[in-house]
Amino acid sequence: MQADRKNKPTCFDWIQLLLTFCVPVAIVVYTILENNRDLAISTQHRNQDLSIADGQQQDTVLREYKKTLSRLVEKHGLFFNYSSSASLIARSSTTVALNQIDPARRKFLLSLLYDAKLITYDLPTDPSVISLDYANFTDICLFIKFINPVYIHLNVEGAIMIRADFRNVTLHGAKFNKAILHYADFSFSNNVKFYDVLGFDGSNDITLFFRNSDITSAKFLHVKYERVSFEHALLRNADMKSFACVSCNFSFSFMGRTNLINAVIEDSLMDFVDLSDSNLYRSRFGENIDFHSTILFRVNGTYTSFTHCQFTLTAFGSAIFDYTKMEDSTFFNANFIEASIQYGVFTRANFTQANLFASDWRNVRCEKCIFYRANFTDANLLNAIFIDSDFQDVFITKEQLRQTASLKGSILPNGTLVN
Ligand SMILES: *[C@@H]1O[C@H](CO)[C@@H](O)[C@H](O)[C@H]1NC(C)=O
Ligand SMILES: *[C@@H]1O[C@H](CO)[C@@H](O)[C@H](O)[C@H]1NC(C)=O
Ligand SMILES: *[C@@H]1O[C@H](CO)[C@@H](O)[C@H](O)[C@H]1NC(C)=O
Ligand SMILES: *[C@@H]1O[C@H](CO)[C@@H](O)[C@H](O)[C@H]1NC(C)=O
Ligand SMILES: *[C@@H]1O[C@H](CO)[C@@H](O)[C@H](O)[C@H]1NC(C)=O
Ligand SMILES: *[C@@H]1O[C@H](CO)[C@@H](O)[C@H](O)[C@H]1NC(C)=O
Ligand SMILES: *[C@@H]1O[C@H](CO)[C@@H](O)[C@H](O)[C@H]1NC(C)=O
Ligand SMILES: *[C@@H]1O[C@H](CO)[C@@H](O)[C@H](O)[C@H]1NC(C)=O
Repeated sequence: MQADRKNKPTCFDWIQLLLTFCVPVAIVVYTILENNRDLAISTQHRNQDLSIADGQQQDTVLREYKKTLSRLVEKHGLFFNYSSSASLIARSSTTVALNQIDPARRKFLLSLLYDAKLITYDLPTDPSVISLDYANFTDICLFIKFINPVYIHLNVEGAIMIRADFRNVTLHGAKFNKAILHYADFSFSNNVKFYDVLGFDGSNDITLFFRNSDITSAKFLHVKYERVSFEHALLRNADMKSFACVSCNFSFSFMGRTNLINAVIEDSLMDFVDLSDSNLYRSRFGENIDFHSTILFRVNGTYTSFTHCQFTLTAFGSAIFDYTKMEDSTFFNANFIEASIQYGVFTRANFTQANLFASDWRNVRCEKCIFYRANFTDANLLNAIFIDSDFQDVFITKEQLRQTASLKGSILPNGTLVN
């Protein structure tokens, strides 16, 4: 893009623009402000990112970009929408401009598009005017010290946001679907009170979207989320210490090696998730989490608690769930091969057809548990306590039953009731 100084819009042009269209008002405002803001940026960051272009060149890129956008808006007005050619031009201009500017100016560009409502949406199914697919916002920083910035309905689907900094940001309904967010930092962010703010009647809709996004090695420390979709997301190695999520959907996500220490997840879907090698130390799950077919190989689940969870076909192989507390949960067809649940406390647990081969039940306390057709082969039951439990049709030896500390009120494999 070359500077086109002759065509610089006059004040009259801007006022006309302002009166004609409501959407682009923010662009007008920004353009009026541009010189001061640009100057501030170039002074602050003159010595950074010299590899891209020097500060003045970058300011020129931004100025030209804004001109292009304003012209498009002026020319196409309300027909400037997602499917129009204007949108495609805007999108390619955005990509080109982003590759020539530093992270501070990338943030400026994002704010410009956001304030002009070109990258927001009205209904969750609506696209925004400009798509940011593959737009490069690497190293963008939305964190402002001592401030809690709020973004409503931001749509950055498909954007590249490596190491993006969203710390302490409130994200009402942001769409990060398909975005690349390696090492992004969402710590202390939240999305609560979304519908209170907008008075929008859609309380069953999801209010943060990370569907199919790549969030590998990102940080989510101390976040408070509600109704978030992480479906099919890659969360490998993510640091989610003290992460809190209510009514969230993690279906089919890959969460290997995540840190979920002290996490609290309620009323959510965690089916078909791979959580291998993750640390769930002291985390709490429930009411109502579905772990159907989820893989928990080698997980550290020490001191975890689960209430009203479904573990149908869940794989606990070699996991350590010592001191866990599990209430009102079903483990139908679950697999505990070589898992350790020492000192675990299970109340009303249903282990129908579970494979408990070579698992470690030492000092477990089980009350009102059902083990119909469960396989205890080679399991260690030393000092375990089973109260009012049902061992009918269980694969267990007399030797193993003798190891237990108590079988009070339980029904033995041969139908005898212990009193
Ligand atoms: C989008 O723009 C095209 C032409 O640019 C127009 O035909 C169409 O009606 C617009 N759609 C909406 C929803 O405004
Ligand atoms: C995005 O920009 C960064 C510089 O900030 C650059 O290192 C990286 O290669 C770019 N990525 C793509 C896919 O263009
Ligand atoms: C986060 O936002 C709150 C509320 O505005 C503010 O008091 C706090 O200082 C912010 N935290 C940081 C680390 O900036
Ligand atoms: C959760 O995500 C899965 C996989 O994308 C989808 O099939 C399911 O309908 C979602 N459930 C809810 C309640 O959002
Ligand atoms: C589980 O994680 C906690 C906290 O990091 C650690 O102290 C503990 O040793 C771990 N336990 C196992 C069995 O790895
Ligand atoms: C235990 O789970 C099995 C399999 O889901 C189910 O058929 C059975 O009714 C359950 N038993 C009780 C007492 O809930
Ligand atoms: C119990 O599980 C082990 C290991 O999967 C298997 O070899 C054995 O045949 C099973 N026993 C029964 C009775 O199903
Ligand atoms: C049932 O099994 C228990 C323990 O193995 C044994 O003590 C008891 O005598 C058996 N009862 C019957 C009726 O075979």
